[in-house]
This record gives sequence, C-alpha cells and structure tokens, in this order.
Amino acid sequence: MRYVLEVLRRKHADDRPYWQSFVYETDSEQATVASALRELNERDELLDADGAAAEPIRWDISCLQKKCGACAMVIDGVPRMACDTRLATLRAGPRTARCCRAGSSGG
Ligand code: FES
Repeated sequence: MRYVLEVLRRKHADDRPYWQSFVYETDSEQATVASALRELNERDELLDADGAAAEPIRWDISCLQKKCGACAMVIDGVPRMACDTRLATLRAGPRTARCCRAGSSGG
C-alpha cells in the first residue's frame, strides 16, 4: 500500500513550522507510524513527495513497546503513540497520515 505521511516540521526552534509530505510504501498491515518514519530516515537519500531532498525527520522514540510514551505525537488530530499506531487503521483521507511534532534539525 502507498501512504502519504504529512509531517509538521521546522528547521530551528524559532522558525515557523511547515508541512512536508513523504511517500511510504509497504505491504505490511502491521506497519506503524514509527516504523514508517524510521524507514524513511534509513533511505540513502530522503526525498519528499515532490522529489526534493529533505533533511532526516527528527522525533523522539525509545522503547517501541508502547510503554514509555516518548513517541507520542498528534496523528490525524488525535494524540497517539507512533509505535502503537498502525498506518492501516488511520482514517484521515485516502492513505494519508498527518503527523505532528517532528522537526528537521534540533527541534
Ligand atoms: S517508543 Fe516508547 S511508547 Fe512508543
């Protein structure tokens, strides 16, 4: 399946945030927002949905076991844990996940 992850980002803490979209494809029904963000960052070159080079997506993560809460973010308008949110369960538009609280560098 093909998903579009819309990530709210900013270059520096004082900068105005902006949305950047990324295409993520997987055959797994178990793929989570956390696994998608990790796999995007593991690419040799991270490109946004328009094909422009993008900085790695910075966000907090720790246990990946739904225990610590470090990965908490607003996903499709609802506070959730990214490691416990399967992409296949999201309802916002056709295969679109809108994720907040991710930055480009240091923020
Ligand atoms: S990484 Fe610990 S709850 Fe998601």
